[in-house]
Amino acid sequence: MTDQHWPAALAEARLHVVSGKGGTGKTTLAAALALALAAGGRRTLLVEVEGRQGIAQVFDTPPLPYAEQRIAVAPDGGEVRGLSVDAEAALLEYLEMFYNLGLAGRSLRRMGAIEFATTLAPGLRDVLLTGKVKECVGRTVGDGRGGRGRVPLYDAVVLDAPPTGRVVKFLDVTKAMGTLARTGPIRTQSEGVVELLHSSRTAVHLVTQLEDLPVQETLDTVSEITEAGLPMGAVLVNRVRPSRLPATALAGAATGAGLGAGLRSGLEAAGLFLKDEEVDGLVSETVEHAERVQVEKAVRSGLDAAGLPQLELPELTEGVDLGGIYELAELLREQGVR
Ligand SMILES: Nc1ncnc2c1ncn2[C@@H]1O[C@H](COP(=O)(O)OP(=O)(O)O)[C@@H](O)[C@H]1O
Ligand SMILES: [Mg+2]
Repeated sequence: MTDQHWPAALAEARLHVVSGKGGTGKTTLAAALALALAAGGRRTLLVEVEGRQGIAQVFDTPPLPYAEQRIAVAPDGGEVRGLSVDAEAALLEYLEMFYNLGLAGRSLRRMGAIEFATTLAPGLRDVLLTGKVKECVGRTVGDGRGGRGRVPLYDAVVLDAPPTGRVVKFLDVTKAMGTLARTGPIRTQSEGVVELLHSSRTAVHLVTQLEDLPVQETLDTVSEITEAGLPMGAVLVNRVRPSRLPATALAGAATGAGLGAGLRSGLEAAGLFLKDEEVDGLVSETVEHAERVQVEKAVRSGLDAAGLPQLELPELTEGVDLGGIYELAELLREQGVR
């Protein structure tokens, strides 16, 4: 196991991007991270960009509109707001801001022109989505002291990002912009996005499980992220299950050789007399467990070799309900998330 902690430098990050192979727990851990970062009376925003309503599901609230809404309260004060960004609404909002379209905007939407534009230029879609995220990161409010001072509305924004296969393309706004717009407000806005995403105010975290494919994808994505000049954050190792066998017994247990006889005599010594098929069942469970633990050990050393900060979250055997999110948030705090 390498250094398990949240690097102090991440305290600077205002935008936390959470990616990972599909199904490894991105939405779950993005939610837990937003909650952990809200501790101590802070305010965070959890954003999704794929219109899946995953945030609403995790926090057990009605579907989120295109508006920021309070979705959870941190134990010691502090709140998490949620936002589901959709490219069409972001484009309308955007046109409204720069061209004051009013009614025209609404009829554009009725005509399906906006859907048309965002489908025609997929790069535009990503630029609009990341643009909206940046706007949330940069938004300020009065400091409450009556003067002209302003403070950021959100202490941190957590983005439940597209999966590893697409995330670098999604974040590589420079590439998307290359052919899209050479001048004008969209260009200016996207330059701001590029600057934010390539600065220490952003951190890209990758969620993985201790299995071959997710870890391989994580390692590949780490190189892609680094090559694209994006700031790598931590690897969040999710669904870690305890090893119930002593290290010295592992290799032997994985072969299954002699396990049955050993188990039987051990159980009998304890006064338990099981049927053959019951002993067989225990043997195959043990073999399975030993094999899994061996695979985990191997992929873990591959992951350790990448030399990145790692945080671990356990498998919640009861599944993840709202209480589970609070539990995961607490475990993130214990590993230094600030
Ligand atoms: N630590 C965990 N323990 C148990 N179940 C988990 C854990 N993390 C995620 N899950 C479950 O795994 C499934 C996929 O998680 P989700 O966050 O939706 O993944 P993703 O967003 O990467 O597709 C969900 O059913 C979720 O409840
Ligand atoms: Mg998800």
